[in-house]
Amino acid sequence: MRRLRLLTGGESHGPRLTAILEGLPAGLELDREAIDRQLARRQHGFGRGGRQRIEHDTVEITGGLRGGVTLGSPLVLNITNRDWKSWTEAMDPWNVDEPAAAARRVTAPRPGHADLAGGLGTAQTADLRNVLERASARETAARVAAGAACAQLLGRYGIAIRSGVLQVGPHVVHEGAPTWELLGNVDPASPLVTVAPDEEEALTAAVRAAREAGDTLGGVVGAAVRGLPPGLGSHVHWDRKLDGRLVQALLSIPSVKAAAIGDGIEVAGRPGSEAHDPIVPGSRGLDRPSNHAGGLEGGVTNGADLVVRAFFKPISTLRQGMPSVDLSTGEVTTTVWERSDVTAIGAAPVIAEAVLALVLADAMLETLGGNAVADVDAAWSSYCSRLAPWWRPESAE
Ligand SMILES: Cc1cc2nc3c(=O)[nH]c(=O)nc-3n(C[C@H](O)[C@H](O)[C@H](O)COP(=O)(O)O)c2cc1C
Repeated sequence: MRRLRLLTGGESHGPRLTAILEGLPAGLELDREAIDRQLARRQHGFGRGGRQRIEHDTVEITGGLRGGVTLGSPLVLNITNRDWKSWTEAMDPWNVDEPAAAARRVTAPRPGHADLAGGLGTAQTADLRNVLERASARETAARVAAGAACAQLLGRYGIAIRSGVLQVGPHVVHEGAPTWELLGNVDPASPLVTVAPDEEEALTAAVRAAREAGDTLGGVVGAAVRGLPPGLGSHVHWDRKLDGRLVQALLSIPSVKAAAIGDGIEVAGRPGSEAHDPIVPGSRGLDRPSNHAGGLEGGVTNGADLVVRAFFKPISTLRQGMPSVDLSTGEVTTTVWERSDVTAIGAAPVIAEAVLALVLADAMLETLGGNAVADVDAAWSSYCSRLAPWWRPESAE
């Protein structure tokens, strides 16, 4: 990221997760409940494991905020791990109790996890817990909290994000890229937050069947962003192109193995005449009657809805176990099951929203500049005036 910087720290069973977000302008009012609502969404979803019954994530801000208003200094967001109390002896930063640590030791790497690759890479094969604690998707709670703060900056300028589940395992409820309108069908309280509420029951049955078989499922998540002005990102250099930056952020979510912008997958097999979006005069300046490009052309937002999909592999920890080798003995073994999700797809949309908000807030600040929110406001209004003959924002209502 260029204007914002985000670092997260903390282990899955450590005392807490911390995100430090640097670069938000001073003077931005933050809504704590809105951050907590996003954290609650991350714990949601049919098919989650026992951990979600233990944790009730809320944010505690310990820096960068005074009276609910940002100071322009790093925003420090903390999320306590309630489960820490059962892990203190094995995970204490200074005094690890050896019998407790031995009881938690992992020596047979689980396929699909960072265990083997991370253990080999960091010389921590004697206890793969040193790797898996950090590789765990628990870290995404920190990103969701930081992303929620960025979403509030975007919201100030009428930019809103929607998301939902398009596929659970082999069950496709929507083929291809979603639209903003389709994502409006998602009931946030539903078990799998899908764009097709009528199919929730069939989807939950599929998750139940996978659980009974000791197996796991992945799926596809779609998201759309409305209200982005044209011109965010850059066409001039590879590492400034916004499509690349967005896809990197999506692929950094644990389990995501592919990401697409707009009809990115489908257009590969179409003739050009069916792949590109005509430019026509419209009621808001220039209009695009279709949106195959998903709101990005040449690495730059084009004023249409930004549309992305993220493809999640099935959860790696199987109750039935997977073939592995015990690194302490060299013996062939089967992985041990530890409390785990059958699918995390119901939690995935809010994580996708968070990483999109981080990258888009960064791109907005890059284009608009400003250390104080009043300066960003002024730059926004001047930018919108310049664009007005060609682009006027569509309401995200
Ligand atoms: C919200 C969320 C929850 C997850 N929960 C689990 C889990 O309970 N058990 C598990 O084995 N993997 C889980 N994963 C996936 C692993 O974290 C991930 O597969 C692993 O860290 C390896 O990373 P990679 O899949 O990106 O290669 C979860 C992923 C997400 C996004």
